[in-house]
Amino acid sequence: MATPDLLWQTIRNENAKSEVEREEILANPGFGHFFTDHMVDICWSTGGGWHRPRVQPYGPISLEPSAAVLHYGQEVFEGLKAYKHADGSIWTFRPEANARRMQRSAHRLALPELPVEYFIESLRKLVAVDGSWVSDADETSLYLRPFMFAKEAFLGVRPANKVAFYVIASPAGAYFTGGVSPVSIWLSTDYSRAGKGGTGAAKTGGNYASSLLPQAEAAEQGCAQVLFLDSVEGKYLEELGGMNIVLVYKDGTLVTPESESILEGITRDSILQLARDRGHAVEERRVSIDEWREGAASGDIVEVFACGTAAVVTPIGQLKAADFTIGDADAPAGELTMSLRQELTDIQYGRLPDRHDWLTRLDA
Ligand code: PLP
Ligand code: COI
Repeated sequence: MATPDLLWQTIRNENAKSEVEREEILANPGFGHFFTDHMVDICWSTGGGWHRPRVQPYGPISLEPSAAVLHYGQEVFEGLKAYKHADGSIWTFRPEANARRMQRSAHRLALPELPVEYFIESLRKLVAVDGSWVSDADETSLYLRPFMFAKEAFLGVRPANKVAFYVIASPAGAYFTGGVSPVSIWLSTDYSRAGKGGTGAAKTGGNYASSLLPQAEAAEQGCAQVLFLDSVEGKYLEELGGMNIVLVYKDGTLVTPESESILEGITRDSILQLARDRGHAVEERRVSIDEWREGAASGDIVEVFACGTAAVVTPIGQLKAADFTIGDADAPAGELTMSLRQELTDIQYGRLPDRHDWLTRLDA
């Protein structure tokens, strides 16, 4: 059955930021601090399906205190970016992949699956009113955050019959305060991020809530991110709190963990494709912390990086654990890491041909 067209309503924000205020924010956005003037809101109910799609002023959401999401965490989200090209056009990167991942996350959290068309239309609608928030400064973008949650006022534990889907947008510079220089990460051995059969592969708030304490431990150790191991044997690499991890071997092979309990990163998938295009071997397989330790000591593993929408590609200089350290906090950024990062961002910003058809124009 074809997805029915949505009848959109747009309510303009009468108190939108002035151009001067907006430019001031765009000059130094950081990550996740500021929000554009509007947001998208679509309702869903068991009987009514998706309805009442609108673009409205960004602002507080009114919820009953008994709304299910506040009690049982039934929510999912996505993250992707809008980029301005040199000719002023606005594009996003592989939005169908985010839309489909949101469907998989929703399925796991017993939420309704938003059609891919609605997901992408929502991004277009928001950019139509807030396009001036996409900066043309180097390495900046507009981070788009679609999310969906159970808003039914009901305390019984079952999937909610009323759900809301929103998209908000936040101008973004570098995710880490140090820019693109190598980061140190902390190995969490006391906590797991996700277990077998759990929600690790879904982009749902609970996974991030459970990463906050180990993330705080990482910060105490002077580390920018936490690395989790598998929850069964405590041996195999999973991912960081908010990014995937990739190891580069001396012979040019890229290795990244295979696991049912990590997020299938779209940045990782894209980077691995670019590496394959250059003739690198790519392996998605289990990789143990001992393999990393031994490989780094012997010189077999020459670079390690983190990747994700927010972090793009960030070199990892050092891994700190309670009783050992790998690498060096002052290590220079890996050459392949930086050149893959450059190629990916060149495609995203329209400086290189989009040979894999990854870009979708949002402002036309
Ligand atoms: N892993 C986690 C836990 C994340 O939060 C993210 C970021 O979205 C990623 C991996 C990378 O995913 P993507 O490249 O699709 O942004
Ligand atoms: C993203 O990269 O989109 C994420 O959701 C990760 C988070 C650390 C902001």
